[in-house]
Amino acid sequence: MMDAPTPTTDAKAADEHELPMTDGKGTPTSRGPSADALLVRRTLAEIAPVADRMTSYFYALLFVRNPGLRDMFPVAMDTQRDRLLKALLTAAEHLDDAPALTAYLENLGRGHRKYGTHSAHYPAVGEALIGALTRYATTTWNDETQAAWVRTYTTISQIMIDAAAEDERSAPAWWHAEVVSHDLRTPDVAVVTLRPDQPYPFLAGQYTTLETPWWPRIWRHYSFASAPRPDGLLSLHVKAVPAGWVSNALVHRARPGDVLRLGPPGGSMTVDHSTDTGLLCLGGGTGIAPIKALVEDVAEHGDRRPVDVFYGARSGHDLYDIDTMLRLQKTFPWLSVHPVTEAQGHLPDAVCRYGPWGERDAYLSGPLGMVRRGVDALRGAGVPSERIRHDFLAELAPAASG
Ligand SMILES: Cc1cc2nc3c(=O)[nH]c(=O)nc-3n(C[C@H](O)[C@H](O)[C@H](O)COP(=O)(O)OP(=O)(O)OC[C@H]3O[C@@H](n4cnc5c(N)ncnc54)[C@H](O)[C@@H]3O)c2cc1C
Ligand code: HEM
Repeated sequence: MMDAPTPTTDAKAADEHELPMTDGKGTPTSRGPSADALLVRRTLAEIAPVADRMTSYFYALLFVRNPGLRDMFPVAMDTQRDRLLKALLTAAEHLDDAPALTAYLENLGRGHRKYGTHSAHYPAVGEALIGALTRYATTTWNDETQAAWVRTYTTISQIMIDAAAEDERSAPAWWHAEVVSHDLRTPDVAVVTLRPDQPYPFLAGQYTTLETPWWPRIWRHYSFASAPRPDGLLSLHVKAVPAGWVSNALVHRARPGDVLRLGPPGGSMTVDHSTDTGLLCLGGGTGIAPIKALVEDVAEHGDRRPVDVFYGARSGHDLYDIDTMLRLQKTFPWLSVHPVTEAQGHLPDAVCRYGPWGERDAYLSGPLGMVRRGVDALRGAGVPSERIRHDFLAELAPAASG
């Protein structure tokens, strides 16, 4: 039997768990991957080809040993079932890459309050993880590797637990929000405006997680399409994707009066108002929503920093919010809006035809493929990685460290 990871509930312990680099015995080191990280990566390389089977086994172990936990998860655990385990493995692999990872895990920990997760649940997940690794990493698994994984999991879960405990002091686990208007902009894109049941604090550029009454326990992310408004209303741009559960419900079924649940805000695509660095923004499809919020945020701060927005979509018709963006461009002399359709090439390639961008803070929002290509293109155009912001940290972490 494994040493069960035993994170504490003490929020003050957070400082002791600031993603330290450790040697194999937990002693911090100052440079290079820690011995724990090397052992963890070796295991990950071994399980990569059998990740699917390991995921199934992980959940089977979790639910067989802890049947009470099953009801916290969606009834159907098909497309999304690998998210928990994938995040765990990505976090374990990049444990040395603090502080971006710390921020990601804190956000994840706060977000877990809406699932009803408590600190006492973490050891059960840790045991299922170690059980699944023991079974599938047969050649690299030994006592030393297991000890490295237990330390790693304990660090990760402690960050999540501490963030949740801290959040509990000042924020609800979730909000109810009533649909107050629903505007179908194209056959598959709707602008949905919500009134939360209590103040919902967030920053321009952030997103929420949302559950509809039609798909209980299925949560999806949606970005806010405006900076915080004086009337407290929240607006989202939703595109119905083929066979998509939540997006189709929001676009084709939701009506004023329907009540949704929102998790806490998250995301690092926010403007640093302590500098006057210019912004370079890439928004693909509904990815324009948080970009519009960023533009409003810059305007509200009375800044005169240059902002270039590249707004991409398949065709001119799919640029459903171009009128709003062009109106903003007319109002603000510091704003340039560049519409890009597929006929003109990929959005990132179009961006690289302009420039130079090396001195800008870059923001990318849209489908994962676009963000991935965009990050590569911007790095190639001389924008330093630490100035490139997007919300696919877990998905793009391997690229970021490579
Ligand atoms: C940080 C973040 C912010 C986001 N903000 C927004 C936003 O502002 N507006 C918005 O509309 N969406 C946004 N999304 C995407 C959103 O969270 C959902 O993934 C999307 O609405 C699909 O959910 P679903 O339940 O309808 O589809 P699912 O049931 O999850 O998926 C059904 C099928 O569609 C496929 N699929 C999923 N997404 C797409 C896609 N984009 N194109 C084609 N096929 C797809 C899946 O692979 C699956 O096969 C955001 C995602 C993230 C991570
Ligand atoms: C270090 C430990 C953990 C990590 C890294 C982790 C990570 C994740 C991630 C990335 C998701 C996807 C949705 C989201 O972003 O919120 C998720 C969903 C979820 N997690 Fe965790 N989690 C951990 C521990 C736990 C624990 C202890 C529980 C409680 C049993 C739990 C319950 C859930 C539930 C119910 C969901 C929603 C189901 C779903 O959407 O598939 N998680 N987790």
